[in-house]
Amino acid sequence: MEKVEMFFSTLSWFTYATVPPVCAFFGWLAFPFAFFTSILAIVFGTVQLWKAISNLTNPLSNEMSEYSNFASTNEALKTIFSQASDEEIAKYEKQLDTVKIFDPVLIITPNQTWINQHGLPAYNAVMDAFATNGLQNRRRDRNSRSIFHFTENEELYTVRRNVRNLIPNAFFVPTSLQSQLSNAQLHPVGTAWILLKVAALKSDFGEDENFFHVI
Ligand SMILES: *[C@@H]1O[C@H](CO)[C@@H](O)[C@H](O)[C@H]1NC(C)=O
Repeated sequence: MEKVEMFFSTLSWFTYATVPPVCAFFGWLAFPFAFFTSILAIVFGTVQLWKAISNLTNPLSNEMSEYSNFASTNEALKTIFSQASDEEIAKYEKQLDTVKIFDPVLIITPNQTWINQHGLPAYNAVMDAFATNGLQNRRRDRNSRSIFHFTENEELYTVRRNVRNLIPNAFFVPTSLQSQLSNAQLHPVGTAWILLKVAALKSDFGEDENFFHVI
């Protein structure tokens, strides 16, 4: 009986001697851990808050990054009119001011070989056809004979089909097929570009290589 008592009292001394120091040891470990974690939380929280505030105050920057694959209208025009002066580019840019987002714009730049072959009045007649086809006493080019506004793709390609029927020699037989056809029209009237405004200042654009193909 005495031995058993002694055993328990020994255990309780053992417990008192070990458990508090162990708790204290882990407690000291917990403090730097909590400190470190709260610093991380403050840093991440601040970054998120800062992002949220900057998106609220400047929603355009958010929108711009979404369209970062697209060129500015100015860059697009400089590619299309590679010979144009800054003044001319500014004039063209103004032409695009009123274009609604996602309305297609057709831009035609002249092919000098075609003009040498057919003459400038013939070239202007083709541009006038693109500017007026399907409209009553109105032009879709603001007299530029180069930048044509359409309200939708269907209108653009209907006009293209109509002009091809009216003035077939503005269109050409693709080089790969020219050897198979005698009297083939060898040059297009120009180069066709399709430009879309996708956001206030951004554009998607590209050359439509088949635009002036006869077939
Ligand atoms: C004119 O058309 C010919 C194809 O017949 C092409 O090789 C040439 O690059 C064109 N020129 C311009 C300025 O687009």
